[in-house]
Amino acid sequence: METIKVVKTASYVPAKVVTNDDLSQIMDTSDEWISSRTGIKQRHVSVNENTSQLCFNVAKLLLEKSGWDAASIDLLIVATMSPDSYTPATAALVQGKIGAHNAIAFDVSAACSGFIYGLNVAEKFMGSSNTACKRVMLIGGEVLSKVIDWSDRTTAVLFGDGAAGMLLEQQDDSESRFIASSLHTYGELGDKLEAGKTEALTAFPMTGEHQIKAFSMSGRDVYKFATHKVPLSIEEAVAKAGVTLDQVDYFVLHQANSRIVTQIAKRLEQPLAKFPMNIAEYGNTSAASVPLLLDELITNKTLKRGQVIVLSGFGGGLTVGTQIIKY
Ligand code: ACO
Repeated sequence: METIKVVKTASYVPAKVVTNDDLSQIMDTSDEWISSRTGIKQRHVSVNENTSQLCFNVAKLLLEKSGWDAASIDLLIVATMSPDSYTPATAALVQGKIGAHNAIAFDVSAACSGFIYGLNVAEKFMGSSNTACKRVMLIGGEVLSKVIDWSDRTTAVLFGDGAAGMLLEQQDDSESRFIASSLHTYGELGDKLEAGKTEALTAFPMTGEHQIKAFSMSGRDVYKFATHKVPLSIEEAVAKAGVTLDQVDYFVLHQANSRIVTQIAKRLEQPLAKFPMNIAEYGNTSAASVPLLLDELITNKTLKRGQVIVLSGFGGGLTVGTQIIKY
């Protein structure tokens, strides 16, 4: 039987680190406020590297680690809410740079659920005889620092830049596989979290300057959304998978806020030790956060082949998504 295997993971974050104390030099905030409410201690911030560059660095690492020829990749997806441009897609820029000339490439825009949505799209492409994709590169990458209003302390302290990704391959009789998923979109709640909003301005008549607006968020609403909808999404996926929550080895959740993760663990009545976190170091990196954490756990050998892992994201849209894999 053909199954999908996560072959390799890799990550890249910009070198510049901005601590909570650094932020308190430029806005009215403190390490105590930020870390007690969010768990964030620092974040990496890009200096002149755009999203495609972060993703390109991940792509290079993935090729190095796997020994794959770029030309053997059939599909290249970048999940991002902070692309370099409206067009070309960030995935197309990466495809061109690495010379993956047999791959089709496009971006998935589902904010902090983007990587999970990307996994689902990849699974569909890999399962369809029309497309026959055997090898997929999926990267979540963000330069959120460019859509942050650095004078707004209510959002500026939360986010960070980074990219991470994985290579997926269809293999015969691999023990690894995608088990089940659950995706939902709540478009009626879209205004609870917005970034990069543009206006429909034309020169006929000339009405003003075209602007891209920074992050705005109803923090409390997003908090409520996440702590209610993520457990439901996980329970739905687990039921489809025919496994119990107790059989899940690790829950790798989007790193938006340590309190959200803690609350979700409580709702699911699962030990917090099964919910690893790295938000202290990176902040909220949106579509990059799940693969960044996954790569860290694989690199430090916390995750082992054969384990059942729940990957779950939530964010702008509003969106929520869960994918269960046997790693
Ligand atoms: N430093 C110091 N004080 C601050 C800061 C700051 N950075 N930000 C806000 N405050 C103040 C506010 O002005 C307010 O002061 P007031 O009481 O005098 O009016 C006070 O702190 C409390 O503000 P709240 O917004 O009510 O703080 P809350 O306890 O709700 O925490 C937070 C805010 C951390 C954003 C929380 O609502 C949250 O975690 N929400 C989830 C948001 C999230 O994770 N979003 C990302 C997910 S989606 C995605 O990933 C793209």
